[in-house]
Amino acid sequence: MKVDVLLGLQWGDEGKGKIVDYLSPQYDLIARFQGGPNAGHTLVINGEKTVLHIIPSGIFREEVQNVIGNGVVIDPHILMKEIDGLKAKGLSLHNLFIAKKAHLILPTHRYLDAASENAKGKQKIGSTLKGIGPTYMDKTGRNGIRVGDIFSPNFMEKYNGLKEKHQALLQIYPDIEFDLEGEEERFHEAVERMRSLQTIDGPYFINKALKEGKRILAEGAQGSMLDIDYGTYPYVTSSNTVTAGVCTGLGVAPKNIGKVIGITKAYCTRVGSGNFPSELFDENAETLQRVGHEFGATTGRPRRCGWIDLPQLKYVSMINGVDEICLTKIDVLNEFESFGVVDAYVENGQQTDRIPYDLNENIGVHTTQVEGWNKDVKAQQFAELPDKAQAYIKYLEAQLNTPISLISIGPGRDEIVLR
Ligand code: GDP
Ligand code: IMO
Ligand code: MG
Repeated sequence: MKVDVLLGLQWGDEGKGKIVDYLSPQYDLIARFQGGPNAGHTLVINGEKTVLHIIPSGIFREEVQNVIGNGVVIDPHILMKEIDGLKAKGLSLHNLFIAKKAHLILPTHRYLDAASENAKGKQKIGSTLKGIGPTYMDKTGRNGIRVGDIFSPNFMEKYNGLKEKHQALLQIYPDIEFDLEGEEERFHEAVERMRSLQTIDGPYFINKALKEGKRILAEGAQGSMLDIDYGTYPYVTSSNTVTAGVCTGLGVAPKNIGKVIGITKAYCTRVGSGNFPSELFDENAETLQRVGHEFGATTGRPRRCGWIDLPQLKYVSMINGVDEICLTKIDVLNEFESFGVVDAYVENGQQTDRIPYDLNENIGVHTTQVEGWNKDVKAQQFAELPDKAQAYIKYLEAQLNTPISLISIGPGRDEIVLR
């Protein structure tokens, strides 16, 4: 067996949570491999909405194992709050497993995130302020504290050592308000509770499951354009969000990667700072935002909106090795008489498909107008979709040279059309 992958092809919020929840009955195990509580994955089940930040989106299927892999960074307080919320909805959480090599987000990581962003002023990343950057810095700087350390008799010694380093580092930034004492109290309470969770040796757990023939799906967080290496650096997150991240984040050999499903909206959004070539600033942006309810699931910030960007999608398909595409939120285009597709960038008067080294603000875009279907897309089968919606999907398939196998037409669990 191989590990299938579902990951975002844009700047996040493509609808990963919904699709993973939909696909999870086809799998025995769902695993998050990177990121942390900066993610917000929305599931709408029987009209009831749940936003998951750290727990994989297969958790509502009791027979499916859900693994938080070692590439993830975990905030104990947020994890325990999420667990409490799911238990209140009647889930047992017997199917949740946490890799011991996953790193912990300390209160002072969040403090540093906030102080660093504040000091950047206009250049700020627009971080979710969940402490992601500083935690991955400590991981690669070999200073981090991992889930497995909470069982060590000298956990407090390690904790205090790292906290002191952070306090020294905080001196270089202008003062900001942060209730460190209160945050530490909540952190230690949560760590105490985490000791009774099912922790695992991630790579052995996953590879044993593979050997036993279990079907595994790796669930990406963020999107490929937020990847630390291949995204719009420095306006990115601090992990590898692309397919390669599955190998390091779960301990899976490259040869054991199976099908890669890339997910994209029928248009494009971005939250936080950084370049967004196909961004719109007109009434089309307002319509996309209003109809698509484009507000961050983690921070509530309004998402910037624009047209789908083909050079961008071709670039990330190359890096991820995308086999199939899942297209979401096509219903958000229902109101449009016509809408745009960015099919090329324009540099020095020349059209190009190539993403430049620095996706700077001056890059021009070439937009093609597509006729809208201008009615509801209630459908169960591809053939029931309006003709113009079918034509749009076929056009994207031809442009991206990849089949679109799943089409999402609403937030609900079953609002899906299979191709
Ligand atoms: P994720 O981070 O990739 O899991 O995506 P988010 O949950 O942050 O954002 C996607 C938003 O779109 C959520 O509010 C979903 O409920 C919603 N959504 C997902 N698929 C569709 C769809 O096909 N149509 C509509 N209208 N909403 C959708
Ligand atoms: P999901 O998994 C959208 C963005 C932030 C910011 C940048 C860095 O729900 O798709 P960080 O907190 O990681 O330091 O923020 O990345 N960002 C996301 N945008 N969806 C996400 O996750 C995101 N996670 C981080 O807005 O621009
Ligand atoms: Mg999200």
